[in-house]
Amino acid sequence: MAKYDVKDMKLAKKGRLRIEWAAMDMPVLESIKTRFKKEKPLKGVRMSACLHVTTETANLMETLKAGGADVVLCASNPLSTQDDVAAACVQYFKVPTYSIKGEDNKTYYRHIESALAHKPQITMDDGADLVSVLHTSKKNLLKHVIGGTEETTTGVIRLKAMAQEGVLKYPIVAVNDAFTKYLFDNRYGTGQSTLDGIMRATNRLIAGSVLVVCGYGWCGRGLAMKAKGMGAKVIVTEVDPLRALEATMDGFDVMPVLEASAVGDIFVTVTGDINVISKGCFRKMKDGAIVANSGHFNVEIDTASLKKMAKKKRTIRDYVEEYTLPGNRRVYLLGEGRLINLASAEGHPSQVMDMSFANQALCAEYMVKNAKKLTNTVYSVPKAIDEKISSTKLKAMGIRIDRLTAEQKKYLSSWEMGT
Ligand SMILES: NC(=O)c1ccc[n+]([C@@H]2O[C@H](COP(=O)([O-])OP(=O)(O)OC[C@H]3O[C@@H](n4cnc5c(N)ncnc54)[C@H](O)[C@@H]3O)[C@@H](O)[C@H]2O)c1
Repeated sequence: MAKYDVKDMKLAKKGRLRIEWAAMDMPVLESIKTRFKKEKPLKGVRMSACLHVTTETANLMETLKAGGADVVLCASNPLSTQDDVAAACVQYFKVPTYSIKGEDNKTYYRHIESALAHKPQITMDDGADLVSVLHTSKKNLLKHVIGGTEETTTGVIRLKAMAQEGVLKYPIVAVNDAFTKYLFDNRYGTGQSTLDGIMRATNRLIAGSVLVVCGYGWCGRGLAMKAKGMGAKVIVTEVDPLRALEATMDGFDVMPVLEASAVGDIFVTVTGDINVISKGCFRKMKDGAIVANSGHFNVEIDTASLKKMAKKKRTIRDYVEEYTLPGNRRVYLLGEGRLINLASAEGHPSQVMDMSFANQALCAEYMVKNAKKLTNTVYSVPKAIDEKISSTKLKAMGIRIDRLTAEQKKYLSSWEMGT
């Protein structure tokens, strides 16, 4: 049995069944697994993965192992682990796993250190925590690393800042920036699973609610679109004029967050920014306002101020904390301000994670093959990988498309022909 730290190994069987359920909707990853089994492109490569420990992640772990990788796994958020999946990874896939849902910050970082004790040659991050620890307290392990991959927007922003300052010590592929990642995972995945998280935590009706979406990026667009589809009156807050304009033309009300605070029923942050919902917002909120975050870190809602302002606090349901503010107004914070789609629901549906994790697997292979040629900066996912994933996904969905004729190819590459 591998070394591990999970909540309860007795949950492994349940986890295995749920992993199998997810696999049914991950045909692209499955096709990579089949090829990896034959070709073993990751043979003997030590990998440490710091990802949300979900059923889809377990399928990625199985794929990496099929490719010959020697992989260990830890959580990329203290509240996103599915404990049955963590147990199944240890029991059935022999992947040393360090993650327990609800772990405190100290345990969270201890688990990251356990994953790094594996002396990874490749790191696979969601939020750049492995990279961050490797570049600060575990610098001695950097010598083993040849490259890495990064799953999310916030991680990519951090890595680019490191590269800009010249402190990044190995090359990293920004998986988030693949079209087959952000157009589907961030938009449709976060859109649906964030609402799922809010509904599971609160059992409130979305129809007729005023839902405030802070940030109109890929996640915000998806969330606003899905909430509108469910009958919510959606308000968008932004700091980028272009995105604010886009939200306006997409049919949403756009206003500053302080104004929205007075009218919203449900607030969701998806900005990757700090203190977007601040003290001033809490002062204006209506009695019963619900506040959640689906951005990567738990910094988007100023929970410290909320705690200070509150006269009383109690947990009224799982993942719902009630704060009673002066004037007896109650504000409800969901999932401690951590990613709500993973805290109270199960994260993105498998269909989108199929593409995100196909990118992870292929980028790990790319890194093993090409690391020596790369410099210490952040790379885009090669176009060939994006194209391969989109065409395999379409094929698996039974969707056929047209091909350019020779005449069309010629026309599209010429400039002389007019009316
Ligand atoms: N919950 C999940 O499962 C999940 C999935 C993917 C990404 N993420 C995370 O969600 C966050 C957003 O990702 P994205 O891909 O949509 O990023 P993005 O860069 O496409 O969009 C972020 C948007 O927020 C806006 N913004 C920044 N500060 C703001 C502020 N103070 N008020 C209002 N708007 C502000 C930006 O202008 C931008 O339009 C990131 O932290 C990312 O890592 C979470």
